[in-house]
Amino acid sequence: MTNKLGVGIIGAGNISAAYLRLGPMFKGIELRAVADLNMDAANERAKEFGVRAETVDGLLASDDIDIVVNLTIPAAHFEVSKNVLLAGKHVYSEKPFVLTLEEGAELKALAEEKGLRVGSAPDTFMGGAHQRVRNIIDSGEVGKITSGTAFVMGHGMEHWHPNPDFFYQPGAGPVLDIGPYYVTNLVQLLGPVARVAALTSTPAPERLITSQPRNGEKIPVGTPTTIHALLEFESGAVITMVTSWDVWQHGHSNMELYGEEGTLHVPDPNFFGGEIKQTKREADVELSGEWEHPFSVPNDGDNANYRCAGLADMAIAIQEGRPHRCSDALALHAVEVMTSILAAGEKRGFVEMSTTCERPAPLTPDAARELLA
Ligand SMILES: NC(=O)c1ccc[n+]([C@@H]2O[C@H](COP(=O)([O-])OP(=O)(O)OC[C@H]3O[C@@H](n4cnc5c(N)ncnc54)[C@H](O)[C@@H]3O)[C@@H](O)[C@H]2O)c1
Repeated sequence: MTNKLGVGIIGAGNISAAYLRLGPMFKGIELRAVADLNMDAANERAKEFGVRAETVDGLLASDDIDIVVNLTIPAAHFEVSKNVLLAGKHVYSEKPFVLTLEEGAELKALAEEKGLRVGSAPDTFMGGAHQRVRNIIDSGEVGKITSGTAFVMGHGMEHWHPNPDFFYQPGAGPVLDIGPYYVTNLVQLLGPVARVAALTSTPAPERLITSQPRNGEKIPVGTPTTIHALLEFESGAVITMVTSWDVWQHGHSNMELYGEEGTLHVPDPNFFGGEIKQTKREADVELSGEWEHPFSVPNDGDNANYRCAGLADMAIAIQEGRPHRCSDALALHAVEVMTSILAAGEKRGFVEMSTTCERPAPLTPDAARELLA
């Protein structure tokens, strides 16, 4: 039988609402408390979702909290996660896991020393669409993947997020903000990366906020906003990945993978669901409806949104003594890939990876059903 581990959140901002809303769908976790440096934000979220508000120190000292979910801004991820581990609790962080390889390695070592788990978003690769792509690749139907493309381009965050400042500072930018979804999915599909190269640019030194309540305010940009990267995987696959917040319109699909026997069009890794297209050499393949994965069923308007799947998987993995899918090793490797892309852009050359990781275990439809309450 799966017991529920007590979960507390640090960081009562924008994304905390999704965790508090979707958490009850899953086995193995019970969201109990929310904390923030800003007590008003914590109180408001706590009231909205019927959990208790805590100070950060109060949450870390709470006996009924086993796992702390770190939903603070990227620049605070390392310090907050470290304090959680020092308080003797497991930690699951929003992406990006940390901002440097050294920070990630320190957390991983601390967790190992204390016998605690560290997990990190994104968990969208556990979605039905991406798991089906994984299943097709692993079945050998499209042959070995030899190359591919990934495009994630738009015009930034200042038109919707109420406080978009952090997106334009080191630790964010499109590679570290939206790149985790793409890099993590590529690693689960193709395995670890061996080396990267990149060219980067910052076309606009300031961005104009058009969202409320700060409409009209200009914010500085401290990190590249257009990044063209090349990734060579240990498998030999070569991927072009373009991330930008300086593009109004484009006609590229999110992700295409080219195999020796066919092509896969992969939907946006920022989401759990989406349409897959497959070819057998040049001919379209009719994908059968047999793959009924619970994490591709729309539950949020037209979207399949199963955020907390990675958290629930970690909670259950702790109890079963098995590895969790959104692991620190995977997150650390993704951080190294992304920070190396930025470093490669600065030096205009190649950067070799020093970390590697196992592909996370596939999440079959039956395994996904096991995570649902
Ligand atoms: N907003 C989204 O749609 C979204 C989606 C996916 C992932 N994320 C990730 O989730 C994280 C949070 O994003 P957000 O949009 O909710 O940000 P946000 O700015 O809305 O909220 C962050 C909250 O963290 C609090 N905080 C900051 N530093 C803290 C500290 N040291 N201790 C305690 N509280 C602290 C802030 O007071 C704020 O309430 C980021 O890492 C982001 O990349 C956000």
